[in-house]
Amino acid sequence: MTINISFQKSEYQKADTLIVGVFEDGALSDPAEILDNYLDGTLSYAIKANSKFKGKVGQALHISAYDQDFRQIIIIGVGKEADLDHKVAEEIGGKLLSTLKTYGAGQANIRLSGSHDFEKITAAEFANRIATGLHLKSYEFNKYKSKKNEKKSEGLQKLVITTNAAPEAEKLYKDTSKICDGVFLSRDLINEPPNQLHPESYAELIKDELKPLGVEVEVLDEKKMQKLGFGALLSVGQGSIRDSRLVIMKWNGNKKSKKSPLALVGKGVTFDTGGISLKPPAEMDLMKMDMGGSAAVVGAMKAIAGRKAKANVIGVVGLVENMPSDRAYRPGDIITSHAGKTIEVLNTDAEGRLVLADALTYVQEKYKPEVIIDLATLTGAIMVALGFEYCGAFANDHDLWDQLSLASSDANEKFWRMPLDEAYRKEMESEVGDLKNLGSLGRYGGACSAAGFLEHFIEDKVKWAHIDIAGTAWGKSEKPTVPKGGTGFAVRTLDRLVSHYYEARK
Ligand code: BES
Ligand code: MG
Ligand code: ZN
Repeated sequence: MTINISFQKSEYQKADTLIVGVFEDGALSDPAEILDNYLDGTLSYAIKANSKFKGKVGQALHISAYDQDFRQIIIIGVGKEADLDHKVAEEIGGKLLSTLKTYGAGQANIRLSGSHDFEKITAAEFANRIATGLHLKSYEFNKYKSKKNEKKSEGLQKLVITTNAAPEAEKLYKDTSKICDGVFLSRDLINEPPNQLHPESYAELIKDELKPLGVEVEVLDEKKMQKLGFGALLSVGQGSIRDSRLVIMKWNGNKKSKKSPLALVGKGVTFDTGGISLKPPAEMDLMKMDMGGSAAVVGAMKAIAGRKAKANVIGVVGLVENMPSDRAYRPGDIITSHAGKTIEVLNTDAEGRLVLADALTYVQEKYKPEVIIDLATLTGAIMVALGFEYCGAFANDHDLWDQLSLASSDANEKFWRMPLDEAYRKEMESEVGDLKNLGSLGRYGGACSAAGFLEHFIEDKVKWAHIDIAGTAWGKSEKPTVPKGGTGFAVRTLDRLVSHYYEARK
C-alpha cells in the first residue's frame, strides 16, 4: 500500500475521514474543539457517552457524520500532553493507520494545531513522526499472492496532515520517506523466501537497488574470494549449490572528507539449516531471516544514499547459504580465515561468526575504517537474554556506545549494551588451532562468547560495535509501527548514527 502523505497549513482539505486528537484527561485538542463547536458538541457528547474511551495513546472513537465534505470522524487518543515525544507520535501514527483501515478511509485528513511546540517535541517533528509511524505501518508483503484481490489492499490512498508547522514538517518528512524506503527494502529482503533470495540473486538485487542511487557496488565471487583466502566464509557456503558472494557498497556523500569511512558489515546467511550440525525441523523456515544483519546494512545504504547523506559509508555483506551435503564443511574441520588465523569448527551451525570474520578482516585491510559496526542474527542466546524487544550491542568504545544509544533512541529501536571481556575471547581459543567456533561453556553466555570470537578479528585501535539482532530482525506479532515478519530493525538507527555523527565532517 502506498499512501500519499502531505502537509498543509490550510484547514480545508478534501477528505472522507477527519481525524482530531483528544488528550488522556479528556481535553480536546484545538482542532477537535473547533470541530466540536462546528458540529454542536457531537464530539464531546460521543466522548462522554463512551465510558471505554480514555484518550490513551492510539485509542480511537469513531463517529459517522452527515456532512457534505466528510463522512466520518475519528477521535484519536494522544495520551498526556506532557508525555508527547517522538516515540508516542510514531505509536499514534501506526495505530491510526490500523483504525483508518478498519473504517475503510480512502482520503483522510488529520488536523493538528501545530501552533505551539510541546515540552519534548516540536510541532513540526510531532507531525513528521505521526507520518513516520503511519508510513512504517503501511508496509505489506504480498507479492507471492497469486490472486489479484488479495494482492491489492484497498486502503488509505491519501493522508493530509494539517498543521501550522507544515513547511518544516514537509522538510523533515522528505528524509523520513527515504529512510522508510530503506526500512521497506530491508523488510522485503528478510521476507523473501530462500529459494528466491540466495547469495547470487541477492548480490544482483543489491546492484539493482543501490546503483541507481549512486552507490558503487562491487561483488566478489567465489573465485576471487578463494584467491584472497576467505577460508572461513567459503567453508560455510561450500555445502550449497549456490555460490557465495561478498558485496561491497560504497557511498561517497562527502568527497572533501579526509577521514576514513564508517564501515557497516552484515551477516547474510540466506538460509541457515545448521549444516551438518543440522537444526531441528520446528520453525526452520524462519532461518530465511538469517540474512537480517545484511538486510540492515543494505537498507541503511539505501536510506543514506536516498537522502543523499553528506557522509562516506562502506557497507560489506557476506552472503552464503549454510547447507548440509556431501561437500559441506564438517565439525572437526580446521579452516584458515582471511586473517590467517586457523579455526577449529566444532559446530557448523555457529556459521555466522565465520562469515563475519572474513568480512571484518577484508574491510579493515581494504578501507582502514576508524569505526566498524557489524550486524548479525548471530545467536539464539541473545534471545534468551533479551527476548524480542532489545537487540544486544557489544562495543569496545564508550563513545561509540553512547552514539549508538542516542541514535537508537531517536530511531525508536531498542539497544541494550552487552559485555566484551578478555574471558570471552579466551573461551574461544582452541587446543588444536588458533580459535574454535564454539565456546567451552556451550550455551552459557553464548552471545558474549560469539562477540568474543569476533573480537579476535578486530585490529588494535579500531572502534567496533557488534549488534546481535537475532531476536529483533523478525516479528512474530505485529507492533504499532512494525508489521509481522521482517522488521527492518537497525536501518533507522544506522541512518540516525550517520546523520548525527558522520555527516559533513571535515
Ligand atoms: N542463525 C543462528 C542464530 C539464530 C537463532 C538467529 C534463532 C535467529 C533466531 C545462528 O547461526 C546459530 O545457529 N547459532 C547457534 C550457535 C551455537 C551453535 C553456538 C545458536 O545460537 O544456537
Ligand atoms: Mg547457525
Ligand atoms: Zn545463522
